Amino acid sequence: MSQNGTPLIEVRNISKFFGSVIALSDVSMAVRAGEVMCLLGDNGAGKSTLIKTLSGVHRPDEGQYLVEGEQVHFNSPRDALDRGIATVYQDLAMIPLMSISRNFFLGSEPTRGGWGPFKRYDVKFSDRVAREEMLKMGIDVRDPAQPVGTLSGGERQCVAIARAVYFGAKVLILDEPTAALGVKQAGVVLRYVAQARARNLGVILITHNPHHAYAVGDRFTILKRGRTFGTFTKAELAREEMVRMMSGADELDALSHELAEFARADSGAGEELGEAERHLAQALEESEEVFSHGLEE
Ligand SMILES: Nc1ncnc2c1ncn2[C@@H]1O[C@H](COP(=O)(O)OP(=O)(O)O)[C@@H](O)[C@H]1O
Ligand SMILES: [Mg+2]
Repeated sequence: MSQNGTPLIEVRNISKFFGSVIALSDVSMAVRAGEVMCLLGDNGAGKSTLIKTLSGVHRPDEGQYLVEGEQVHFNSPRDALDRGIATVYQDLAMIPLMSISRNFFLGSEPTRGGWGPFKRYDVKFSDRVAREEMLKMGIDVRDPAQPVGTLSGGERQCVAIARAVYFGAKVLILDEPTAALGVKQAGVVLRYVAQARARNLGVILITHNPHHAYAVGDRFTILKRGRTFGTFTKAELAREEMVRMMSGADELDALSHELAEFARADSGAGEELGEAERHLAQALEESEEVFSHGLEE
């Protein structure tokens, strides 16, 4: 499948309502094989609702959902999984005390010998496959029998991703996989995301970190209060612009102006507000400094 072929998944003008809350409104986007699509937006923007719709947890109230060009109506995550759409949530469904390979095969345990109660979980097979699959993605797990809890957060994310790839995922949806990780561990996960793309999967990556998004993203869909700003290629979206959008610098700017207005309107309270305003201006400067430092690395 080429990158310019039919999208692996596509939504057209979908909306999702929770009572009077409009979680998604008229959202369209597509993901193709061999690309990383980053989903960006503030808290409450609708990111989770969108991926839950894609992964069969929610049904859209309006609009169309197409998988490889064919309209689908998923009733459960199982339906999505059967079509090769795998979602890795931030709170991974893993059992820390169980081995890496056992977690790798959780819910799909390979067995050998006999039938029914005489079937046995095939340890050798699962150890070998888990190790091979992790290695294919560039992580050398020397002992797949070690508890998954002994792995770092980044490596655990990688086990979940390798598992999805092994079980035939075509689309990988990752909800904030780097949120709780340090720089080095985030790097491990991002490299893995790039590996999945190299193996021609379509990846949807949700992240709050503009540097992570920019490092692996090919296209960027921006959500704001349930609506899309549109989808941009890397070339169309300057990194500075994205950093600014995601850092909330615009909101801080607006707030700081608002406070200045208050201060002018009520000179009695002006003293205190002036102080708050100075703090904000400082916070704004600092946040820009942090981000521009990030840009130079
Ligand atoms: N199950 C639900 N019931 C009611 N409101 C919901 C539900 N899920 C999400 N929402 C609302 O929909 C909006 C989008 O939420 P969400 O998709 O979680 O945003 P994000 O993941 O971008 O932070 C929010 O206003 C949220 O409160
Ligand atoms: Mg969310």
